[in-house]
Formats: sequence, C-alpha cells, structure tokens
Amino acid sequence: MSRPGLPKFFADLTSWYAIEALAVGHALGLRSALMQGPGTVAEIARRAGVDERSTATWLAALTAAGYATHDKGVFGADPDQFPFLAGTIPGVDSVALLDFVLAMGVRVPAVIEVLQTGQDPAPDLFGNEFSEAVGRVNAPLYVESLIADWLAADAKLMSALVAGVEVVDLGCGDGTAVRLMAKAFPDSKFVGVDRDAVALSRARDSVPANSSFQDSLPATFDAVTILDSLHHFSDPNALLAEIRTGLRPGGVLVIAETAYVGDVDADADSPFGTIGLACALLYCDVEGRRSGVPPPIAPQDGGVALRRALSEAGFRIGATHDGAGGFRVYFARP
Ligand SMILES: C[S@@+](CC[C@H](N)C(=O)[O-])C[C@H]1O[C@@H](n2cnc3c(N)ncnc32)[C@H](O)[C@@H]1O
Repeated sequence: MSRPGLPKFFADLTSWYAIEALAVGHALGLRSALMQGPGTVAEIARRAGVDERSTATWLAALTAAGYATHDKGVFGADPDQFPFLAGTIPGVDSVALLDFVLAMGVRVPAVIEVLQTGQDPAPDLFGNEFSEAVGRVNAPLYVESLIADWLAADAKLMSALVAGVEVVDLGCGDGTAVRLMAKAFPDSKFVGVDRDAVALSRARDSVPANSSFQDSLPATFDAVTILDSLHHFSDPNALLAEIRTGLRPGGVLVIAETAYVGDVDADADSPFGTIGLACALLYCDVEGRRSGVPPPIAPQDGGVALRRALSEAGFRIGATHDGAGGFRVYFARP
C-alpha cells in the first residue's frame, strides 16, 4: 500500500518491515496458507498450523503492506502481488529471496563482528541454508539467460561448446549452471568446482552423465566459467594464475560479475544499486576475507581491478557483454 508523503526513512523502514513480515510468514507456512485461497483468520491459521492471534496479526500486517486483501473478515492474496508471493515471476525467485533474507538475518551479528574486529570470517559463516538460498536466487536467471544471452555473446566459445570441449565452472555452488550447460552441450564435459562441501553435496544430488563435481581445479581444461563468484574468492590473483596455467591453447575464461559503472553517482541511480551494494557489504565483501592473502576482487569499481588482475595473470579481454540480470560478462583469452 503506498503512503504518499511518508518521509524517506519511514518509507524505507516500512518496506523493511513488509519484507520481514513476508519472510517470517513464509517460514511459518502462512505464505503458503494464504496462497491456497481466501479464508478467515481461523481457516488460514488452521492451514498453516499457527495460532490464530499470530495469524491475525500477520494478515493485518500483510494487508497494511499491500500483499493481502481483506473483506469482511476474509483475507486473500492481493492479485497484483500473487506472483511475488508465489515465486512465479519469470527470471526471479522471490521465495528464494525471502529465504535469503531469513538466512542473512541470523548472520548479521557475526558479520558485524568480522567488520568490527577485522578477523577472518568463520569458513561456514555463509554455509548451509544460506548458500542454498543463493543458488536458488540465481537459478531462474541462469535458466533464462546463461546460454541464450551470456554465453551466446561469444560465437567462438559457442562453436567450441557444440563441438565438444572440457569446461570448468569455478564457484559452481549448487551446480545449476553445470546442469544447464551439460544439457545444452551434450558433446562437452563439465566439471563444477566449489570449496563449499555442503554446496557440492547438493550439486551431486543430480549429476548429468557429461559432468562431475569436485573441490579443486583439474589440471587442464578448455574453458572456465566463473559466474557471480570471483568477488568471493580470497587470493584471486593466485587462482587466475592457476587457471592461466591449466587453460589449453585456444581456451577462454568467462567471468560474470555485477555490471557496476564504477561511479558512485551513476551506480546510485541503478534500480538494484541499493540491494547490490548493501549485499556486498553484508555478504560478498565479507565471505572471501582471509588474512595474509589478497582480498577478493570487488566489481564495485566498474571492473578496473578485474581488468588489471586478468592482465597480470596473462589474459587479454577480447570483449565484454552487458547481459541479462545486470551482469557484465568478460571473455578473456591468453
Ligand atoms: C555467490 S556464490 C555463486 C554460486 C554459483 N556460481 C551461482 O551463481 O549460483 C559463490 C560461490 O563461490 C564459492 N567459492 C568461494 N571461494 C571459492 C574458492 N576459492 N574456490 C572455489 N569456490 C569458491 C562459494 O562456496 C560459493 O558457492
């Protein structure tokens, strides 16, 4: 529900409470109960197995936030917001985003401690249900755009994938990208690599015949993809050098990173600027901090540090493609 004239701070606070209420209701099963169709407080409470008083407060809060409708004691999902509540918007998993909000919330005290003390984050700080939510957040974008938009921007790479090459997806997480590429290019072989054992075990739940998952780079390969991950890698220069060594002649390194302009004012105007930058503060810039090694390469400078690191590792960036989802895709070759 819009609140014309509300000072910005209170409008932002209102949005935060709306998302928190949605996320808590999602965790309690109230979101699913509301999705089942209109009902009274008692009916929706029964569907979710939540007490009536909390259900009534939740439904009132959702009505105030504009996600639910109310008519004479009967509540329903607002028709305009139904796709967001149900997570059925093409290219965006809004329900995964609610899980992300819940998983981030419990980690905020540990993140503040890392930022306050400068200590390394615990290796599992963003593990388990957090990495699972991250995988689900990116999955719809990859289904729609990884091959048709991002990879399609490099005709030479596409021909190689069709003909059959060996590809590593580094920082593969749950393996969504590996599975999509393995299906699209049956004559190529794919190895998903991630340091997170829990993500790898989820990836191994479904392994196409032409792919596998492991925790370190193989010795040689024809192509490497690093999708929304390089900015999490501690000691990225060592990793890029290792990739350069393992890349066979004619090979290519594909890196997808958020397409920041690198100018504070221009990036402030981006519709996803606040989400991306606050997420960098709370998660991306924290995860890869390790004392004694160079920090991850953050994309917030518009790609300046990434270009320098690629050049130092012996790569030349042939082209970049500003693709779907607000990502810039770099195609780098030795
Ligand atoms: C934001 S997630 C992206 C996962 C996946 N590529 C996606 O887009 O859904 C970053 C991933 O990088 C992994 N990662 C971080 N540092 C790594 C390293 N040094 N080697 C391999 N994987 C790493 C994390 O475990 C995590 O799965």
